[in-house]
Amino acid sequence: MAETRVPIARYSTLREGAGISVRVRDMEVAVFLRDGTVYAFENLCPHQHIPVLAEGSLDGVVLTCPMHGWQFDITDGRCVHASGRLRTFTVHRDGDDVCIDLPEEEKEAWW
Ligand code: FES
Repeated sequence: MAETRVPIARYSTLREGAGISVRVRDMEVAVFLRDGTVYAFENLCPHQHIPVLAEGSLDGVVLTCPMHGWQFDITDGRCVHASGRLRTFTVHRDGDDVCIDLPEEEKEAWW
């Protein structure tokens, strides 16, 4: 499936360990900066499908959902203690521009 590169943030506005949520029509993407690397994944906790992960707390690469404490490895989206997994996106940085790869058919759903 063809993918397109979509801008989601300015690197200079991201703060280490603090998440932001980027609204993209019918989807929110959570963006975290950790040790200079940007990680992006759908802002939807698989436990109760609530868009709160950008508000979670980060300890190393482990993100804890603020609702009921499920934890995820932000490097691959894997749930630490259950079988769930986040939808992660490949992140690219070009200077101050941060982009993700998105399947071509979802391109129209972005801004
Ligand atoms: S909604 Fe995230 S742990 Fe329950």
